[in-house]
Order: sequence, then C-alpha cells, then structure tokens
Amino acid sequence: MRFDVITIFPEYFSPLSASLLGKAADKGLLSFGVHDLRDWAYDRHRTVDDTPYGGGPGMVMKPAPWGEALDDVLTPESRLVVPTPSGRPFTQAVAGELASAPHLVFACGRYEGIDSRVMAHYRDVVEVHELSIGDYVLAGGEVAVLVMVEAVSRLVPGVLGNAESVSDDSFAPGRMETLVEGPVYTKPPVWRDREVPAVLKSGHHGKIARWRRDEAFRRTAALRPDLLARLDPKALDKHDRRL
Ligand code: ADE
Repeated sequence: MRFDVITIFPEYFSPLSASLLGKAADKGLLSFGVHDLRDWAYDRHRTVDDTPYGGGPGMVMKPAPWGEALDDVLTPESRLVVPTPSGRPFTQAVAGELASAPHLVFACGRYEGIDSRVMAHYRDVVEVHELSIGDYVLAGGEVAVLVMVEAVSRLVPGVLGNAESVSDDSFAPGRMETLVEGPVYTKPPVWRDREVPAVLKSGHHGKIARWRRDEAFRRTAALRPDLLARLDPKALDKHDRRL
C-alpha cells in the first residue's frame, strides 16, 4: 500500500521510518512519499497562503499550489484524505475502509484551512475523505495524518506479526465494535502486593475469554458510557445479557 503526504512541514514525518511502520516499509508492505507543497509554489517567496475572502482572522491556503501538487501525486486509484476538525470522525471502521485502498494521498492544511474549491474540484476526480481525529483543534493536519497513517497501516495484512490479532482490539468491527479492551498484566505474578487476577493464570481459555469480555464491559461502562449506549443487542451473547 502506498501513502503520499503533501505538507509545508515534511520534517513532521520522520517517525514514518521508525518502529512498526519502518519495518513494514523495509519488508515492502508499505511505501511512503512526503512532499513539500512549496515545491509547487512558483513565486519568489514560494507563497502558499493568502487572506480570507469575507475578512476574518488568519490565512487560507491558496488553491493553485494544491491543484498543481495533487494533479502530480493523485492517480485514478487514489483516495484523497484531508484532515480537518470539521470532517467526519475518523474511527476504527474508517481506518479499516481506508486500509483496503491501494493508494492514499493526504493533504495537510495549515492556518484556517485550504480554499474549499480544491476539495470541490477533486471530489469530481477521486474519492475524497475529509476526516477529524477528535473534537479539538490542532495547529495543522500533520499530527492527524500521523495518527491516521499508523491506525490504517497496522490493519494492512502482514504489517502486524501473525500472533497479533486486530479483531480483539478496542473498537474492532464485530464483537468489540462499541467496547474498549479491559486491563492487561505480565510477570511478575505479584508486584507491590498487587496480584494478577487468578483466572489469567488458570490456563482455562474459555474462562479467560469470558473474564476479558466482562472486564471490557465494565471498563466501557465506567469510562465510555456513550459507546455502551450504541451497543447492538445482536452483538451480545447469553452471558453478556446477565451482567
Ligand atoms: N486539523 C486541525 N485539527 C484537526 C483535527 N481535530 N482532526 C483532523 N485534522 C485537524
């Protein structure tokens, strides 16, 4: 799978060569391109922004450099992802949808955003996703793109080791869709007088699975009642109903 990012701050993206993503790139499962938007700004100062029509604070990104850049980087198979606080919420389900695409192009806005005609134009050309990573405002789209690239990449087949399954993750489509995962433990069995729950040391896979699911329900009820309210009754098993 190929990712291209267009930004005025290419240096934000050095983490792409680290850790899980770097290893997946070395294996040839993922490839990354990071492009400086100013390479498509042809005036002496390589200007990418201007004052907003209608007045108001801040600056808006000019359409021309974006048009030149996107014409060069997009292909007919690409999906264009534009991070913006006014976008559709980026969720695990959206990450799963994007992971099936062969090519994602991310357009990082800064300042007050990108001239709206850019998205209007490219909606006629490719699939465009305007996405928000949460109800807060960042200084630009770069950090949101890192979040999305990492969430999408780990769903690409082969990127995680065989032993790691994404189906038990918090929010995973299916049985975990509206649940967060419960607590996890490792050795030693006692630390500062706190014991690992006995069931996890029992070797009884059925009981362990039951305990994990119960804990996921408890944690979701305590910390994310909004998620529990959306729980599909069809996703419950007989024991869940008795909790
Ligand atoms: N750009 C600025 N804030 C953002 C957010 N919350 N999500 C995505 N992109 C953004």
